[in-house]
Amino acid sequence: MLKKFSVYTRGGILKRLKPPFPPAVQYRMKKTISAIAFTFLSGVFFVSFAIGVNQEFPVSPPPMTEGMFPCSSCHASIEVNRKKRELKDEHSEIKLHHAETMRWCLDCHEARNRDKLRLFNGELINFTESYKLCGECHGNVYKAWRAGIHGKRTGYFAGSGKRTYFLCAHCHDPHEPKFKPIKPEPPPFRPTEPENAR
Ligand code: HEC
Ligand code: HEC
Ligand code: HEC
Ligand code: HEC
Repeated sequence: MLKKFSVYTRGGILKRLKPPFPPAVQYRMKKTISAIAFTFLSGVFFVSFAIGVNQEFPVSPPPMTEGMFPCSSCHASIEVNRKKRELKDEHSEIKLHHAETMRWCLDCHEARNRDKLRLFNGELINFTESYKLCGECHGNVYKAWRAGIHGKRTGYFAGSGKRTYFLCAHCHDPHEPKFKPIKPEPPPFRPTEPENAR
């Protein structure tokens, strides 16, 4: 227990007391100590929450086509062509259907270092962090993804246990992210021979 405790008297004068403390003062002491503990713990909680916001997410390797990375193996010796055009010599399978009237490849891919992605503010990130790029426009989904509600992660669900996240790009093609409607399977056949139904 404390050696000294200060209280305000009714007249508003600060009075320093020494033990033995009267019961009313003991009650005040307990209240004060738990308030200090609460303030301290919520500070700890807030700091760990703030760290969580800047947390790096361990992800499965990006679903890159084999032989495609590093992009610079070709691009280091290709001049940048910023013109919006149909690509013929390479990447002709990529059809941009993702707000394509508003942008082009080099809004996401860095022109001078093709091994990196580019955020809106010009910051360069690796392909393992592509969720940051997606999160710039899809803030709500990004928030849900971080919390493990949207997308998929493996490992521990709660606490500090290890978990691995699937990148947005594991499920959505960044160039054409909208899921296409799936043709429903036909219904099962009714057995023509009655003995099949047994
Ligand atoms: C919305 C941002 C965005 C735009 C716009 C975009 N890309 Fe991408 N692209 C990505 C991301 C993210 C990946 C990484 C996918 C992964 O992790 O495998 C990628 C992957 C690629 C790859 C590797 C594909 C593979 O098969 O592995 C190529 C090549 C590429 N982009 C070229 C292009 C070209 C060419 C355009 C323009 C026609 C373009 N990108 C437009 C975000 C974008
Ligand atoms: C095999 C060589 C090769 C590799 C590997 C390659 N590219 Fe390309 N890329 C090309 C060529 C050639 C063009 C020009 C195509 C055209 O103009 O028709 C091109 C064009 C592009 C463009 C359009 C803008 C521009 O500068 O012309 C983007 C964006 C792009 N590549 C991104 C990537 C990314 C991202 C990767 C790696 C994930 C990658 N490329 C890997 C050969 C390659
Ligand atoms: C610069 C803003 C921007 C960025 C960055 C961006 N998107 Fe989008 N995205 C849009 C807009 C706008 C639409 C709606 C228009 C469209 O689909 O063409 C859209 C549509 C989508 C859709 C389809 C939604 C539906 O209605 O089904 C998905 C999925 C998606 N984006 C995923 C991604 C992923 C994954 C990334 C990261 C690789 C990404 N987006 C990066 C702006 C962005
Ligand atoms: C494990 C696979 C998976 C991952 C990982 C994933 N998504 Fe999705 N996402 C889906 C599916 C499936 C749907 C369709 C849900 C529906 O149609 O209701 C969807 C829907 C969406 C939509 C359109 C619907 C909406 O709620 O607006 C957007 C945008 C989107 N995802 C963006 C993202 C972004 C950004 C990331 C990464 C931060 C991501 N997704 C990660 C599977 C995934």
